[in-house]
Amino acid sequence: MAEFTLPKNSKVKKGNKIDVANGAARSRTFKAYRWDPDDEDNPRLDEYTIDLDECGPMVLDALIYIKDKVDSTLTFRRSCREGICGSCAMNIDGTNTLACTKAIEDCSGDVKITPLPHMPVVKDLVPDLNHVYAQYASIEPWLKTESAPPNRERLQSEEDATILNGADGHGPAGCILCFCCSTSCPSYWWNGDRFLGPAILLQAYRWIADSRDEFTGERLDALEDPFKLYRCHTIMNCTNTCPKGLNPAKAIAEIKKLMVARR
Ligand code: SF4
Ligand code: SF4
Ligand code: FES
Repeated sequence: MAEFTLPKNSKVKKGNKIDVANGAARSRTFKAYRWDPDDEDNPRLDEYTIDLDECGPMVLDALIYIKDKVDSTLTFRRSCREGICGSCAMNIDGTNTLACTKAIEDCSGDVKITPLPHMPVVKDLVPDLNHVYAQYASIEPWLKTESAPPNRERLQSEEDATILNGADGHGPAGCILCFCCSTSCPSYWWNGDRFLGPAILLQAYRWIADSRDEFTGERLDALEDPFKLYRCHTIMNCTNTCPKGLNPAKAIAEIKKLMVARR
């Protein structure tokens, strides 16, 4: 029988255990993925046990506490700590989400934290986003027009703006490019070289659906390809995981409907 196993240098080893909770009543252990491109070692899971009364309530607060007080070598991205910049996306407790909006008390037991799955890793919890940003650039994510510019800004009706913002505030314009969705999509795991994935397709739809954009046909032409769009098989992981409550699967379905309508 065929036996599949990870290459030796991909196996995640047990790492260091550091307990700075001093027996506190409210302590928690965080298991963080560690990998340094500058040494030859396998990745490992380091365990940090901390006193929750010493840090804020979110997983990002715990990571910042660990970096500041326990182990300054722990590397992760973050910026806004408000769920707006998308920088702190990682896999926490088995789900892709934002560390700054994930409450520690909503995690069960020890909190395992790994980088977004199926992305190359730059270091520790930092994924390499170069490829996905090149895909983002490929959909030309800006307003494209050929008519003469008006004297004022290009206006939209309230109905047209609602298509972008969503009646419930969860329309495609709310995307923060965290890539939790794309990295939870099995089709993107296997075909991410050519399939654009839910985040980029949601962004493509955001411009296709914009009443002010005058290149809708060209934008649809650019997606008419067996891989870029049609590798979505409506598995719905993307919508289930989006920490902003957006619906990339629906945006993809809308693009497919527009493709059919113009045939
Ligand atoms: S609905 Fe499409 S894009 Fe979303 S997870 Fe499934 S295959 Fe991926
Ligand atoms: S759709 Fe949601 S999960 Fe995907 S990139 Fe945008 S905000 Fe992140
Ligand atoms: S730090 Fe900006 S979204 Fe979490």
